[in-house]
Amino acid sequence: MAKIVAGIACSHVPAIGVAMDKGQTGTPYWEPLFKGYGPARELVAKLKPDVAIVVYNDHANAFSLEIIPTFLIGVADKFPIADEGFGARPVPVVYGHPQLAWHLAESLILDEFDMTIANEMTVDHGLTVPLSVTTGQPAEWPFKVIPLCVNVVQYPPPTGARCFKLGQAIRRAVDSFPEDLRVIIYGTGGMSHQLQGERAGLINRKFDTDFLDNLTKDPIGLTKISHTEYMREAGSEGVEMVMWHVMRGALDLDAVEVYRHYHVPASNTAAALMILENRSAA
Ligand code: DHB
Ligand code: FE
Repeated sequence: MAKIVAGIACSHVPAIGVAMDKGQTGTPYWEPLFKGYGPARELVAKLKPDVAIVVYNDHANAFSLEIIPTFLIGVADKFPIADEGFGARPVPVVYGHPQLAWHLAESLILDEFDMTIANEMTVDHGLTVPLSVTTGQPAEWPFKVIPLCVNVVQYPPPTGARCFKLGQAIRRAVDSFPEDLRVIIYGTGGMSHQLQGERAGLINRKFDTDFLDNLTKDPIGLTKISHTEYMREAGSEGVEMVMWHVMRGALDLDAVEVYRHYHVPASNTAAALMILENRSAA
């Protein structure tokens, strides 16, 4: 049977991808951030995932503001890299896993999560940057990828609690897939950041640290944070953190934190990377 072996929470700041693409990761500005990524890459390689479900938000690249799916799953066998205005990132094309993706779509929809299904879509920095952060610069991505988009761009995004429940439904779906597959799940975005307005540049280290701690101490309590609280405490774009709850809901309640890296600044944001492992899959 397929099983979820680990969850990864990872910021998806586009400038992190640009630093990698331009060979700038050793500069004084970027070096401390990238130093923390090395051990995480080793851990991810050791997990030997066959497939990654990457929970992220499209930043009006694959889908313009004409269509705003709350939850969407990509079922294609291939996802081209989006051109976000400066040409596509020079990273490998992303290969999907249509069999597992369609199984997820069927299971989630019959489990009362009304997913939008994308047969064709590009993937932007929200997906490619976490892949780069956790696998480096391979000629081909080392696992298949199922993109799962959450709307956090246009009000109203789904609540953290709803996202956690989607994660639980993803877990049920993966557990019922008959092929032996090692699956990991990413929750991307965050941490505290605000990119516009009077509070642009806001960082709240205390909020971020408590959030990271509570991913293991009190994951259910964490789902009760309201949108207003995210925006007040973690900035307008801090609301991206609701996506981490999808990842968390897909793991065991007693999943173990095996790696944490938190660094300020990365562009205008606090960047974090956390790896949680399921004891049940050990
Ligand atoms: C930026 C964009 C993002 O989507 C994000 O999550 C963090 C930072 C940026 O443009 O700096
Ligand atoms: Fe973002």
